[in-house]
Amino acid sequence: MALISLHALAGVFWAGSTLALTHTSAAHKVTPELFRAQMSAAVLTVLAGAALWGIAIRGAHGPMENTLAIGALCAIAAAGVQGAMRKSPVMAQRIAAVLLSATVVCMVISPYVT
Ligand code: HEM
Repeated sequence: MALISLHALAGVFWAGSTLALTHTSAAHKVTPELFRAQMSAAVLTVLAGAALWGIAIRGAHGPMENTLAIGALCAIAAAGVQGAMRKSPVMAQRIAAVLLSATVVCMVISPYVT
């Protein structure tokens, strides 16, 4: 319960701040402090997600696991885009916002896919 709460809180901050930053104009740079906070949240989300995978999924295969895996891959791609595209931060946040929206949808629908 503690792990899934940590995972969801860090994930909500990462995805939420990314979505908010898509409404920033190119003139307003993503501050280094916010970028660091986003990347810390990303690391925490991925680590807690990996731990949850080990504890709750434990090698199971099915529609739920496939949905979670698609969401996890989108999240890892989003972190890669945010880390690599430092020269075009607004574009990076837009691409990451699409990927992280897909992640959130995959994570929350996963218990219901059959
Ligand atoms: C590499 C990245 C990620 C991995 C490996 C991962 C892994 C997981 C796993 C295994 C679960 C299921 C836990 C269980 O059934 O007990 C889960 C649930 C969840 N994840 Fe992620 N996750 C990742 C990224 C994210 C992100 C970016 C968010 C953003 C908000 C997020 C939000 C959630 C939420 C809200 C749940 C609970 C879903 C529910 O049961 O209703 N995850 N995640």
